[in-house]
Amino acid sequence: MSILRSQVVGCGSYLPARIVTNAELAARVDTSDEWIVQRTGIRQRHVAADDEPTSIVGLKAAQAAITDAGIDPTEIDLIIVATATPDHTFPATATQIQAALGITGGAAFDVQAVCSGFVFALATADKFLTTGGARAALVIGAETFSRILDWEDRATCVLFGDGAGAVVLKAAPGEGTLADRGILTTHIRSDGRYKDKLYVDGGAGSTKTVGFLRMEGKEVFRHAVTNLAETVRHTFEQTGLSGADIDWFVPHQANRRIIDATADKLGISHDHVVVTVDRHGNTSAASIPLALAEAHADGRIKQGQLVLIEAMGGGFTWGSALIRW
Ligand SMILES: CC(C)(COP(=O)(O)OP(=O)(O)OC[C@H]1O[C@@H](n2cnc3c(N)ncnc32)[C@H](O)[C@@H]1OP(=O)(O)O)[C@@H](O)C(=O)NCCC(=O)NCCS
Repeated sequence: MSILRSQVVGCGSYLPARIVTNAELAARVDTSDEWIVQRTGIRQRHVAADDEPTSIVGLKAAQAAITDAGIDPTEIDLIIVATATPDHTFPATATQIQAALGITGGAAFDVQAVCSGFVFALATADKFLTTGGARAALVIGAETFSRILDWEDRATCVLFGDGAGAVVLKAAPGEGTLADRGILTTHIRSDGRYKDKLYVDGGAGSTKTVGFLRMEGKEVFRHAVTNLAETVRHTFEQTGLSGADIDWFVPHQANRRIIDATADKLGISHDHVVVTVDRHGNTSAASIPLALAEAHADGRIKQGQLVLIEAMGGGFTWGSALIRW
């Protein structure tokens, strides 16, 4: 049966130049490199300059992805930006990036699912591309979490970083089998009962302030491993695949211990896992496309390979996608 698939035709990323090490944070709050590395695996993170809002960070990743894809930007008729740190309450950061790319056709909008945002955005783009609603999509995860961190709170400020990653997807014919190139499955979930475990304590519609990130770390950790394993199990049930079939597992990069525990639960060997959390920290919606871009650029992820992504974030939200690269 001939169907449409969303194929990844390009991938790119951008990290702000400034690197903040654990030692630098230890000079500001009561923490240590040893504590941060042992609990999270994070050694450093990038922080955007004052004149680098999320739209600029996202634009640079988008330009890299478009160059990698070798297409004219005007071919893109759908732009979705996953971000929890938009430049403005409105308009959407996606429209700023659209204008900067010189694109005036199609639609551009933001998706808000915090750290799961890239998976939600990819699932949304896939629906448009596979139903004929768009022909070429740019899906961007872009964040400047440094701006919503309470730099006095050692329990959260050591965990996050800034950056962006992007993929270009094109609708292309497939046979409807797992051998097709493109997005093969997506699963997204949310459960708003857990709002207080991970949230920002401000907003345009409530406090009229931006607010700071608040988190019950232990609770988030506990739910993360369970929810992530559940969403991937749905993928395995739907496809008949197992952890041993996955060429590259590219999880949301929040914490090395969550990544390892999830890979173990799913039977995925650690040498098939792409890890960037040590150098990027948790870049929320940007973490997966940043990791994809790195492994794509250095030749680990090759065309035709099976790539599994998953993420969990505030809400709670969580989800996964299986892609044949
Ligand atoms: C945040 C996290 C690393 C904390 O690790 P933990 O083992 O759960 O640690 P706890 O929160 O229980 O804190 C243990 C102690 O370390 C302290 N602590 C917290 N942050 C610290 C820091 N940066 N440096 C030193 N000590 C710290 C706590 O105050 C606490 O001290 P106490 O025992 O005297 O009260 C861990 O819970 C985690 O990674 N959670 C998931 C977070 C996440 O991934 N969020 C994003 C999801 S998208």
